[in-house]
Amino acid sequence: MERLNSFRHLNQNWASGDHSKELLHAQAHIWNHIFSFINSMSLKSAIQLGIPDIINKHGHPITLSELASALPIHPTKSHSLYRLMRILVHSGFFAQKKLTGTDEEGYTLTSASQLLLTDHPLSITPFLTAMLNPVITKPWHYLSTWFQNDDPTPFDTAHGMTFWDYGNQEPSLAHFFNDAMASDARLVTSVVIDQCKGVFEGLESLVDVGGGTGTVAKAIADAFPHIECSVLDLPHVVADLQGSTNLKYVGGDMFQAVPPADAILLKWILHDWNDEECVKILKKSKEAITRKDKKGKITPILGLRSLIEVYP
Ligand SMILES: C[S@@+](CC[C@H](N)C(=O)[O-])C[C@H]1O[C@@H](n2cnc3c(N)ncnc32)[C@H](O)[C@@H]1O
Repeated sequence: MERLNSFRHLNQNWASGDHSKELLHAQAHIWNHIFSFINSMSLKSAIQLGIPDIINKHGHPITLSELASALPIHPTKSHSLYRLMRILVHSGFFAQKKLTGTDEEGYTLTSASQLLLTDHPLSITPFLTAMLNPVITKPWHYLSTWFQNDDPTPFDTAHGMTFWDYGNQEPSLAHFFNDAMASDARLVTSVVIDQCKGVFEGLESLVDVGGGTGTVAKAIADAFPHIECSVLDLPHVVADLQGSTNLKYVGGDMFQAVPPADAILLKWILHDWNDEECVKILKKSKEAITRKDKKGKITPILGLRSLIEVYP
């Protein structure tokens, strides 16, 4: 009873005068967080429907009715298209421009949606498709459960096995995940090779540890033909991949051994492991670059955010 009274008191105080504004802001703040998944799911739906490609193909601002008739949607859903486009204009994926000579407006691409075009050489659509796949979003529903058990990751809690074992058993996951990483790698590598040439100076050999299907190593091998590049990844990831004169694939386990080289590259690797595991990976990498006559280097890269030379 006492508790109920204190809530009544709180309610009266909060809903009146100065407090009412704060109360509504607090509610809006909560709502923004509750519904923020709508942004990513709307974007996913726009990509699945091919909206950026259709706007691009149109060549000039496309009206809502032109867009509706160009899309593979049911006629009864045309009126909902406006709502989807409104969200995506608000979140910066499309812009609206006046059509010349009329009062009508049409949709255009922004630099973000250009990066999602199927034919863009640096398209990150495979990354978006993979990261918003239910297999990868499901573990988020298990986050609080994971906090209460001793599973290594929420993925283990949701799927009963590690992400890498799942990929081994379910080739479709491995396939779309490798495509996703390759699309990210294309973008990051184009910047690293262009802006960070110094990192590669003096190297004769390099191993990309956990290098996936080799997008980064291939680009480095092409840009620096004197560097012998190797990609070390799990055997099922590199099984059918063909190297070139200065690129080879090695199936293995980075916790067991890393092939010797002047430099070790770790891109999008350390974030997957806990501190003890990271120390093991770095120790194996250090062993790989430790030779009597040479001082090697290890370069972990996480997206574009950090380029750190651990052992310069
Ligand atoms: C997040 S992906 C990064 C791929 C690539 N470095 C990139 O940035 O595009 C992590 C990679 O580590 C590989 N991996 C996982 N466990 C491994 C292990 N024990 N030994 C070698 N590679 C492993 C995975 O197969 C995957 O290709």
